[in-house]
Amino acid sequence: MKKSKRIETLDKRPVNKDGFINEWPEMGFVAMKSPYDPKPSVRVEDGVIVELDGKARADFDFMDQFIADYAIRIDRAEASMAVSSLDIARKIVNINVSRKEILEIVSGITPAKMAEIINYLNVVEMMMGMQKMRARRVPGNQAHITNLKDDPVQIAADAAEGALRGFSEEETTTGIARYAPFNAIALLIGSQAGRKGVLTQCAVEEATELELGIRGLTTYAETLSVYGTEKVFIDGDDTPYSKAFLNAAYASRGLKVRFTSGSGSEVLMGSSEQKSMLYLECRCLYVTKGAGSQGIQNGSVSCIGVAASVPSGIREVMGENLVAALLGLECASSNDQSFSNSDMRRTARTMLQFMPGTDFIFSGYAAEPNYDNMFAGSNFDAEDFDDYNVLQRDMQVDGGLRPVTEEQVIRVRWEAAKAVQAVFKYLGLTEVTDEQVEAVVYAHGSKDTLKRDVASDLMSADDLMKRGITGIDVVKALAESGFEELAESILEMLKQRVIGDYMHTAAILDEHFQVMSGVNTPNDYMGPGTGYRVDGRRWEEIKAIPHIIDPDDF
Ligand code: 5AD
Ligand code: CA
Repeated sequence: MKKSKRIETLDKRPVNKDGFINEWPEMGFVAMKSPYDPKPSVRVEDGVIVELDGKARADFDFMDQFIADYAIRIDRAEASMAVSSLDIARKIVNINVSRKEILEIVSGITPAKMAEIINYLNVVEMMMGMQKMRARRVPGNQAHITNLKDDPVQIAADAAEGALRGFSEEETTTGIARYAPFNAIALLIGSQAGRKGVLTQCAVEEATELELGIRGLTTYAETLSVYGTEKVFIDGDDTPYSKAFLNAAYASRGLKVRFTSGSGSEVLMGSSEQKSMLYLECRCLYVTKGAGSQGIQNGSVSCIGVAASVPSGIREVMGENLVAALLGLECASSNDQSFSNSDMRRTARTMLQFMPGTDFIFSGYAAEPNYDNMFAGSNFDAEDFDDYNVLQRDMQVDGGLRPVTEEQVIRVRWEAAKAVQAVFKYLGLTEVTDEQVEAVVYAHGSKDTLKRDVASDLMSADDLMKRGITGIDVVKALAESGFEELAESILEMLKQRVIGDYMHTAAILDEHFQVMSGVNTPNDYMGPGTGYRVDGRRWEEIKAIPHIIDPDDF
């Protein structure tokens, strides 16, 4: 056949490097609705759910039982299930029906009913739903702070810059697992150097992560994973009960906790039970609610390649974010792992959460170049900061970030890097040289920084754990090395754990350590003229992008 130059050109476009697959429900490759999904139903006897979505109690797996016993308001179940799914879908979009009223109705419905409701909504309606159902009034954003070398100085500097740019939460992980305590300390110090009140997390193996949290070296935990089928749970040596227990362990020590789930995980782990991704994700979210977690990181997350490969997959991702909000959970709405070679496609995917706003639009924006992102590449990274700021300005949308000046960036990076140097010296950890500090402050990523002595770092990190170093030791080290203000901030973060208010749904802290959550600053959107609007100081901030013509110059 003679070849078309048009088709040849199109074939070479980045989007055609992405993976696509037709629906295949038998293997779980179906986004919103599988022919094998159960029909919604509930039956209550003597205050116990004895039938859930077509299954009798005797046939329940542990997820059905957990959901029936802990995640559905039994006193509401029959009344809520009597409202048609189409009616509930319309109420979600209707500006005259309040968030509170919807939360009330939804508290009594089953997972299959929830999936049915979401199937009635197109993406614009889902966005309208999210605009109203998001827990916190003001949207937020979360960053990934990592690098290829696990360089603590770069972690601190990138955390400071990220905090300055507006992220309310920052999470790190490691390349080499034993670096975890260094990364946690560097992130704790750096974040506060950029903006007071930023929450931090170190996502590592469960026992270590819990230990770092208990010691006050982190302030929240997020990667408590839940899955949509019993088989996948068991493969991970977990149950909904073990996750509820872990959640309580963190919470008892004053750490903010959210779970993680997302479509595609069951497909990847080969146990989707022929169900749609949306239905399975509904089950995850019910387990999350039943376990008493205040929130969820969801939206396929690390499995986005699976959801994005099937028809309506990106719509499903937004649908599952909305389900989280409908259940009253804080939603950190993914947009983290990269899934497409196409800039158009990756941007379009993010607009679904960006435009209505979610509690955390990204649950992991790479605040470093993508090659330094140890969570695997993110959908947006440090090289997209200016594009993102322009998108906020173009649409007058609050995406949680703000433009900054070069001078501010260098100043906070210095402060963070010098503070880490001082703390490491005070605590007798590995040396941080002046040359390392200087390289990191002016670096874009780890390709621009100096080598660290990995063997010495790892011995020193082990030693730090053995010596029982805690957040208070970091406070002391800072206070006695001339970083009084930073010491104050970290002490304040430790106090927050005792106060506990930041464990409320969708809580973040402002720069005065005041909690803003779904409880004290709830979303009150009910159509035009209500809810959060970008105006005043925040709008001035968003407008002030770096490369701009100022009429005053003429
Ligand atoms: N389902 C459950 N957990 C997930 N994570 C990421 N994506 C998912 C998902 N779809 C969690 C895993 C992973 C961390 C980065 O987030 O625990 O290790
Ligand atoms: Ca995250």
